[in-house]
Amino acid sequence: MDRSVNEYLDNLIQWGNQARATIEKSEIENQEQLLSQLDNWQHDVNQLKQMQQLRSAEKLTTVHNEGERILYQIHQSQHKGSKEDSIDYGQHKLPPLPYAYNALEPYISEEIMRLHHDVHHQGYVDGLNKAEKELYGKKLNKDLIKYWLREQAFHGSGHQLHTIFWFNMTPDAAKRPSGILLQTIESDFGSWHRFKALFTATANSVEGDGWAILFWNPRNGKLGVQSFEKHQLFQIADIIPLLVLDVWEHAYYLQYKTDKKAYVDNWWNVVNWKDVANRLNKAMKVKWELY
Ligand SMILES: [Fe+2]
Repeated sequence: MDRSVNEYLDNLIQWGNQARATIEKSEIENQEQLLSQLDNWQHDVNQLKQMQQLRSAEKLTTVHNEGERILYQIHQSQHKGSKEDSIDYGQHKLPPLPYAYNALEPYISEEIMRLHHDVHHQGYVDGLNKAEKELYGKKLNKDLIKYWLREQAFHGSGHQLHTIFWFNMTPDAAKRPSGILLQTIESDFGSWHRFKALFTATANSVEGDGWAILFWNPRNGKLGVQSFEKHQLFQIADIIPLLVLDVWEHAYYLQYKTDKKAYVDNWWNVVNWKDVANRLNKAMKVKWELY
C-alpha cells in the first residue's frame, strides 16, 4: 500500500514540475497566481510524502482534487479568449443566421429563409453528423463504405456551402466590393462588369441543383468562377486536400493491369509524409468559425 502511495505521490510531484514549466512558458494573465497555488500544492504533496504516519485517504483525496482544480485552471487560462480548434465528429451544429429571417426581404422572403435555414440546412447538419459517426466513430463496415462516403459528401458539402452562403449575404449590402477584393476582381477578370456577367452566366448554366462559386486558387494565385453541379459528387466543398491517391486506370494499369488493390497496397510505400505534414501545417493556418 505504502509503496503504491509513494509512487502515486512521486507522479504528482513530477506532474507538478511539468505544470510549472507549462505555466512559465504560457503567456497567461494569472501566471503568478497559478504558480503560487502550485507552490502550495506541491508543498502539501511533499509533506505527505515525508510524513507517512500523517497520511489518510482523506488527505490523499484532497491533494488529488486540488491538483485537478489547478489543472482545470491552467486549461481555462490557456484557452481564455481563444476559440476551440476543432469539434468532434458528429457534432456539427447549424450556424445561427447572422440576421433576422426577414432581413433580406424583398429580395428573399422570410418564408424561404425559414425553410431553407431551419429545415434544409438542419437536414444537412444531421445527415453529416450521422455519416461522420459511422465513418469515424465505429468499427468500419466496409460493405457500407460507399453509402456513408456518399452521405458525407452530400451532407458535408451541403452544410459547408450553406454556412458560407448565409454569411455571404447581408441586409446592408454595398452595390459592389471595394479595396483589395475589387482590385483583384478587376485585375483577374478584366473588370467588375466582366466578373458579374461571368458569375451570373455560370449560375444560370447550372442544370437543376447546384451552386455558382467565386473561388481563390492557390495553384495559380488567381480568382476563378466555377459551378458545382449538385454539390456532392463524392467530394466535400470547402476542404483542403492533404494526401491524394490517383486511382484512375492510367495511374496503374500498365503495371498492375486489373489488380488495383495491389497498386493501392504498394502505394503506401512511397508516401512523402513530410510533404503531407507541410500541407497540413499550411492548411491549419486557415481559420474559420467552427460549425
Ligand atoms: Fe440550399
